[in-house]
Amino acid sequence: MKDILEKLEHRRGHARLGGGKKRIDAQHKRGKLTARERIALLLDRNSFEEFDMFVEHRCDEFGMAQTKIPGDGVVTGWGTVNGRTAFVFAKDFTVFGGSLSETHALKMTKIQDMALRARAPIIGLFDAGGARIQEGVAALGGYGEVFKRNVIASGVIPQISVIMGPCAGGDVYSPAMTDFIFMVEGTSYMFVTGPDVVKTVTNEVVTSEELGGAGVHTTKSGVADGAYENDVECLLQMRRLIDFLPANNADGVPEWPSFDDADREDRSLDTLVPENPNKPYDMKELILKVVDEGDFFEIQPSFGKNMVTGFGRIAGRTVGFVANQPMVLAGVLDTDASRKAARFVRFCDAFKIPIVTFVDVPGFLPGTAQEYGGLIKHGAKLLFAYSQASVPLVTLITRKAFGGAYDVMASKHIGGDVNYAWPTAQIAVMGAKGAVEIIFRQDIGDAEKIAQRTREYEERFLSPFAAAERGYIDEVIQPHSTRRRIARALAMLKHKQVEMPGRKHDNLPL
Ligand code: HXC
Repeated sequence: MKDILEKLEHRRGHARLGGGKKRIDAQHKRGKLTARERIALLLDRNSFEEFDMFVEHRCDEFGMAQTKIPGDGVVTGWGTVNGRTAFVFAKDFTVFGGSLSETHALKMTKIQDMALRARAPIIGLFDAGGARIQEGVAALGGYGEVFKRNVIASGVIPQISVIMGPCAGGDVYSPAMTDFIFMVEGTSYMFVTGPDVVKTVTNEVVTSEELGGAGVHTTKSGVADGAYENDVECLLQMRRLIDFLPANNADGVPEWPSFDDADREDRSLDTLVPENPNKPYDMKELILKVVDEGDFFEIQPSFGKNMVTGFGRIAGRTVGFVANQPMVLAGVLDTDASRKAARFVRFCDAFKIPIVTFVDVPGFLPGTAQEYGGLIKHGAKLLFAYSQASVPLVTLITRKAFGGAYDVMASKHIGGDVNYAWPTAQIAVMGAKGAVEIIFRQDIGDAEKIAQRTREYEERFLSPFAAAERGYIDEVIQPHSTRRRIARALAMLKHKQVEMPGRKHDNLPL
């Protein structure tokens, strides 16, 4: 009996070594952890239960029958993050470069199916060379099985992808269909085709970093939602993110103990908006002062920075924040900001996370670059996402809410449940200068008349009261009471229900 037990431990030990000490050392030399080290950091201590560690590939082409390594390049299983169940797969770069074979795909799909059945989040850690070249179409089929499951689980359980090494070819499309992608600076990259293929096809010469490093995907393409300095920091931040997320689309947001009084007032908010309407201020300051304990997890902090999106808590319960950022491009809505916010709103709505929207927006960004870039369709994505959302929507206009952007930013008309404004709010079709130049064109040569008309316009429209008189704003509130007002509104809306007409699915402007 003792013999058998020892044999098991021996086999386990062998499997845990993956591609062997030399390849593990090489992995460490590159500043990367191994698959199992990463899982140990992601999950609660000793909570990981591994599945399928003895699975081997079944390929006998190109001499593969002689090289079988238990685990076959991916470590799979489940554990807990701060006590809550989470499923995980981690590509093991030390085994065939983490490449995907038929059996490797079967391990992944088993864990995907289990996560869906258990209605718990799934986190994928990527560090791999794409399809196992020796397996040909069997590997392609395996990817297809993974992709299909990503789609079936979408909107049912949170799916998070963390890119911690190479990620190319077939490996990029699974992350692209999950809810969030995070990367590690300097050691991870993502692209459909690598620098060599790019050179052959387009004659462009680029490095992996220039083509698909964390810098590219967090600032230019918007493919990634954030990047961290190294593996350890990245995995610790993933634990923080998971704490904000519901386990599935039915349970509702997690509730953590809060030591921050929901009625807490903040007098400094009374002077947050500068007297000069063209002077910027930091909308993140408002978010940080409203959320529990100043704890805010920002999504896409470096992309479309004129829009801020992320998770915070109020009274211990997760809230999604969407806010124009006057510090960047005066908080204007452009293509990047629109699609960034639209995707975030849809995630929150799918998982029953209430949305708080802070508005200070001068309108949509004019210009050929924007129009050629599809501003109409991208802006419509955000309008569509908000209009479709059935979660509680609490909106606060701090300053400007001009033109179509007023409607888009969770206005009353498209479904805002409770719409507040600060006394500094200006809700109008446009700012005073543009308006006066159009409606009083005949007076343009007369500076005094124009100044008088501008004053009249400012008094009438550049306040929250024209909107409040119509009930488009439910209440004009004191800035210092913002947290209390939002907390009360969210508590009142906790069991919000809305009916939508039956349909197969909508036709979101993609
Ligand atoms: C089999 C692979 C592999 C692959 C790497 N390896 N990629 N084995 N299939 N796709 C193996 C190597 O042979 C090597 O084995 C080990 O993994 C480490 O690889 P190295 O090349 O030594 O490492 P490095 O120099 O760091 O380069 C990493 C890499 C490179 C950039 C990922 O290996 C690479 O370019 N691989 C091929 C990438 C690729 O083109 N994949 C196919 C994509 S097409 P040893 O035994 O020496 O340790 C695709 C289609 C799917 O995925 C589409 C579905 C829709």
